[in-house]
Amino acid sequence: MERDTQMHMPKKARLIGSDAIQERVGQLAGQINADYAGRDPVLLCVLNGGFLFFADLVRRLTIEHQVDFIRIACYGDSQAPEQPRWVMGPSLELKKRHVLVVDDIVDTGETASFINAGLQLLYPQSIHFVALLSKISRRRRSVLCPYIGFDIADHFVYGYGLDLKGRQRSLRDICYVESE
Ligand code: IMP
Ligand code: MG
Repeated sequence: MERDTQMHMPKKARLIGSDAIQERVGQLAGQINADYAGRDPVLLCVLNGGFLFFADLVRRLTIEHQVDFIRIACYGDSQAPEQPRWVMGPSLELKKRHVLVVDDIVDTGETASFINAGLQLLYPQSIHFVALLSKISRRRRSVLCPYIGFDIADHFVYGYGLDLKGRQRSLRDICYVESE
């Protein structure tokens, strides 16, 4: 007997293929190389969702920079939002540093605003966000995010770092759940 969840399995569809992702990541890295030359930025990866994007992005940087990692809990069960909270803060001293926060997706903007407020307390010289994906139609808070890979419609997406109920993060493509 098949499990009930399998009987109601949603169809999955590819939204952005790996070649398009890699091309866009290269373009974003090129912009950061140009904008941050001589500024020695700290790139902060937001775990877990940002991990693949971050790894691909920083390997294309040709400028001096440092990497660090933060973790925020914000979605208890993938689709049910809750208040963001800090699970792990940065290890590097950020005072007077140019900070680029690298995340998988900016959805409502609540998480990015929360991260921004927390990092401002550390007196960085500047904070900007880099997001592979953005759902502008769902934005509730404005976010200083000059580096966006793709603006997407209001799909729930997964793959390339993003999870579907804790799984599928390692996919090379970005997929979405298609309702039947
Ligand atoms: P926000 O606080 O609403 O902007 O949401 C930010 C976080 O929610 C992202 O960093 C993701 O971890 C998660 N999230 C939002 N939309 C999606 C999605 O479509 N798929 C997977 N995770 C998502
Ligand atoms: Mg995230």
